[in-house]
Amino acid sequence: MTRRAVVIGTGHYLPERVVENAEFETKLDTTDEWIRTRSGIERRHFAADDETTSDMATKAAEAALKDAGLSGDDVDAIVLATSTADLTFPSAATMVQASIGMTKGFAFDVQAVCAGFVYALSNANALIASGQADRVMVIGAETFSRIMDWTDRSTCVLFGDGAGALLLEAQDQPGTNDDRGILATDLNSDGRFKDLLYVDGGVATRSTGYLRMQGNQVFRHAVEKLAQTAHTALERAGLGADDVDWIVPHQANIRIIQGTAKKMGLPMEKVVVTVQDHGNTSAASIPLALSVGKQRGQIKTGDLVVTEAIGGGLAWGSVVLRW
Ligand code: UT7
Repeated sequence: MTRRAVVIGTGHYLPERVVENAEFETKLDTTDEWIRTRSGIERRHFAADDETTSDMATKAAEAALKDAGLSGDDVDAIVLATSTADLTFPSAATMVQASIGMTKGFAFDVQAVCAGFVYALSNANALIASGQADRVMVIGAETFSRIMDWTDRSTCVLFGDGAGALLLEAQDQPGTNDDRGILATDLNSDGRFKDLLYVDGGVATRSTGYLRMQGNQVFRHAVEKLAQTAHTALERAGLGADDVDWIVPHQANIRIIQGTAKKMGLPMEKVVVTVQDHGNTSAASIPLALSVGKQRGQIKTGDLVVTEAIGGGLAWGSVVLRW
């Protein structure tokens, strides 16, 4: 038997305020048409002034607990992927721990920007496989609206806020690639590209800073690296593209999503797409898409799901799991 990390609950939260592309037309030299055709984004949600990353993460985690029929104290660990934690420290994960009434175990943040959720899933999988935890709440939550330069039309129209969560549980499975749970992961980073996407503030500058991106340069890396990492993880699982039921990609740009699916030889019918409604929510985008994909009736028990993401660092990776 093999100890696998199986998804037993999903949940997500989106802030109430929805901002359509048209709203940017009144403030910036941009158009709904440009945003739609270049990125696929039609609208995004922005957090309220008093709403933080840990607030949204808590709501997503509570929804995942409800879905699984469990409570906070049934969880051994929280791994929260975010680049927009409420404070420099403590971690947003410990804030969620307190909010969901989890009085034991441990909680920590993972920071790999848009690739954060695949990094968090991979770490959670290792905690479960090594026997350090039986149930791990894996959350992606972001408030990128707080690090937008509202005068920079090339970035501020692209991002949104939100949170998604998966509850993983250790389950003994036969040990084949038909098992439920996480079957393989692949993580990569290359710091030589750190200047392509970064925030120009932090402890070093005593300020929060704003997101800076050379979008077309990131784009150039994205399709090739995403298809490669998905291929590597599938190969590690002893599977191929033909076995895939759903690709659930990081939702940054519809053209990157289409290009990656094409490079993998998979039709768009097998891709969960939410970028039109959420924009780029960085580490929250994959768990949001997984939760929405399940709600829509797309992802079902037994389906083979591949998630893949790339972002600042550059950092990228993928996870192959059977739902
Ligand atoms: O999630 C983390 C990883 N991030 C990504 O995956 C993002 C990857 N990059 C992208 O999604 C795309 O590169 C963008 C959507 C950011 C931009 O699309 P693009 O086709 O690469 O456009 P571009 O940056 O090459 O800009 C094309 C033109 C420029 O004008 P000129 O120099 O050709 O005259 C920009 O100034 O579009 C202009 N532009 C805009 N025009 C209207 C840039 N932003 C806007 C805007 N409205 N909001």
